[in-house]
Order: sequence, then C-alpha cells, then structure tokens
Amino acid sequence: MRYTLAHFRKLRDGGEKIAMLSCYDASFAALCDTAGVDCLLVGDSLGMVVQGHDSTLPVTMAEMEYHVRCVARGSKQAFIVGDLPFGSYQASHEQAYLNAARLMAAGAQGVKLEGGRTMLATVRFLVERGIPVCGHVGLTPQSVHQLGGYRVQGKSDETARAVLDDARAVEQAGAAMVVLEAIPAALAREVTQAVSIPTIGIGAGVDCSGQVLVLYDMLEIYPGRKGRFVKNFMTGAEGVADAIRHYVEAVKAGTFPAPEHAF
Ligand code: KIV
Repeated sequence: MRYTLAHFRKLRDGGEKIAMLSCYDASFAALCDTAGVDCLLVGDSLGMVVQGHDSTLPVTMAEMEYHVRCVARGSKQAFIVGDLPFGSYQASHEQAYLNAARLMAAGAQGVKLEGGRTMLATVRFLVERGIPVCGHVGLTPQSVHQLGGYRVQGKSDETARAVLDDARAVEQAGAAMVVLEAIPAALAREVTQAVSIPTIGIGAGVDCSGQVLVLYDMLEIYPGRKGRFVKNFMTGAEGVADAIRHYVEAVKAGTFPAPEHAF
C-alpha cells in the first residue's frame, strides 16, 4: 500500500523520524521501498548528479515527468514527491498548477517548490486544488545566482528570522511538510518547534522531523563537490541496498546527521 500524508502525521506525532531520499529511476526506487524509505523525492538535483550540469537550473518539466514516471513504476510504498523545476511555477499560479498537475499525472503524490513568503499564495493555490505541497526554505538551489553560491543560510539574527518566517509562510499556506536546507542546527530546531508540519532537514542538524539526502551523494556515486552534511553510507555496507537500509536506520535512530554533518 502506498503511504499517504497521514503516514507523515503519524510519524511526527509518534516522534518517529521521516526518512526521505532523492530518487530518479525505477531500480533505485524499488531498493528504497525495500529499505523502508518513507518518501522519495524526484529532485531536480538530477540535473547535477544524473545529467552532469553544474546547477539544477537547466532541468525541464519533460525531464521531471520522465523521472517521476520511472520512480512511480519502481516504487509501491513510498510517498513520491516531484520537484517543480526552475521556471515552471514562479510566473503565475496557473503555470504552477498546470505543471504540478503534470507531475501528479506522471505518478507523484505531491510536489515540492522552493521559496517561502514569496510562494505563500502559490502554495495555497495548489493545496486548495488538491495538490499536496512540500515547501523548501533556507538554501534554495534554484536561486544559486541570487544567493552568490551554495552557502549556509540564516547565520545572522536577521536572516535566521527570514528563514523562520519563510517556514511559517509555507505552513500557513497549507504545505504538508517543508525541507530546511543548509541552515544552522539551532535554527532548524527552532523552526521545527515553531511549525506544526514536519520539517525535513538536509544540512540542518538532527532535530528536524526527518532527513533527506541526495541518493548519489550518500552512495558516493556523484564525483562533484559534496557538502559537509553528506555521509557516505557505502562505507561498511555490503551493497547499495544495505547502504540505503543503514541510512534509514540512522535517520530513525537519530544517529544521522551527527554533529560533524551540521552547521
Ligand atoms: O533536488 C533535490 O534533490 C532536493 C533535495 C536536495 C532536498 O531538492
């Protein structure tokens, strides 16, 4: 049976961490299901780790639909979130809805989009029309040129406040969960306590409601630069399935991320 949003509410209310991984194809999706991954994110990180671009910006809607279809065919259990790529949702609510609907028709159970307060009305528009939304605040890779690089966000009082306000905005808009990327662990803890929806950290410390990593990073497949929040789960594993299982166990046990993976 495929997980629904109720699964995440149950995990959060029961104090169990949510294990999310990015995933781009059917074979990895099946392995992730067997390992007990709760949520598969068909992330636009595929632009870097699968397609070899130096950012996520070139990824198209057609490519995202293709990868969502692949993951949906391979997975029977995990909740699948499709990432809305750069330029597919920022222009208007209608544009966001039409593109979110394409990912849902391809097999996603929800969509993710980057941005906080500026995206409040867009998130609400999608949620009111029946599309579960995962927000994404802190370091938003589609804004890499505006941010001046892949930098930790929320380090000053003022920018920490902005991250908190962004997370509150997506919660207020009805998002089902929110990714917190590359922010200080103390700030992620504060955000997690302040909002009623699950927070999913990547480079945000252990006190989030769950964790996500890029699959090709934690399997040490991607040859490019990796953030300090990445752990190589192939170390000590008997194979890929074992590494993914170790990741799920470490997230659930609260042993990943360790302090050395946090900011
Ligand atoms: O595209 C992706 O894989 C993501 C995660 C890094 C959160 O957005």
